[in-house]
Amino acid sequence: MRDAFMRLIQFRYACKLFDETRTLARADLDYILEAGRLSPSSLGLEPWRFLVIEDRALRRHLRSACWNQSQITSASTVIVIKALKAELKLETGYASRMLRRLVASEAELEEAMEIYRGIPHQSRAAWSVAQCHIAAADMMLAAAAVGIDSCPMGGFEPEAVAQLLGIDLGEVEIALLLALGYRAQPQPARHRLPLNELVEYR
Ligand SMILES: Cc1cc2nc3c(=O)[nH]c(=O)nc-3n(C[C@H](O)[C@H](O)[C@H](O)COP(=O)(O)O)c2cc1C
Repeated sequence: MRDAFMRLIQFRYACKLFDETRTLARADLDYILEAGRLSPSSLGLEPWRFLVIEDRALRRHLRSACWNQSQITSASTVIVIKALKAELKLETGYASRMLRRLVASEAELEEAMEIYRGIPHQSRAAWSVAQCHIAAADMMLAAAAVGIDSCPMGGFEPEAVAQLLGIDLGEVEIALLLALGYRAQPQPARHRLPLNELVEYR
């Protein structure tokens, strides 16, 4: 596991150009989505929804809303990760429905809801987006495990993407786009700071 996991970490990189002739098998896509589904989220709220875009014509339009980045059209599949926003309001009952699954009693539920009520609604959208990034990371490593390349993409115009895909930005934030496919070029060298610049021990 130790070596196998590090091989996945090394395999994954932000792929800039995918092989347009290759498409993801449905079983592999399901495997990747399952990894996203099982990701951790604060208070177990699972504040993500995955919109899978395979249609080539739709992705051609989408590309112009994504800084014209070629990954959108050369990839086999683009997953638009939507972060729940309106659903997280107290009055929808979503938070209590989700929290109820994790607690053993009404008293525990009330305790958890107390924590939840303490998070101001304006902060919940950013909080929701942060969870989506964790799901994206898990999906990229799951993709690597089945030999699939990925590119996380924050370079897009939210309003333009939302308009094209019929997404209501009052309901959700667009957290990230995740392009998936097979690399068309060799993996470039990786640039990272050394651990001693990143880590502090006390
Ligand atoms: C939140 C986020 C947004 C990103 N957005 C883009 C993007 O729009 N286009 C792109 O080519 N790469 C994007 N990247 C990839 C990063 O540029 C890349 O991960 C970084 O340069 C390190 O390279 P590596 O992933 O190949 O090791 C994004 C990465 C993250 C985490």
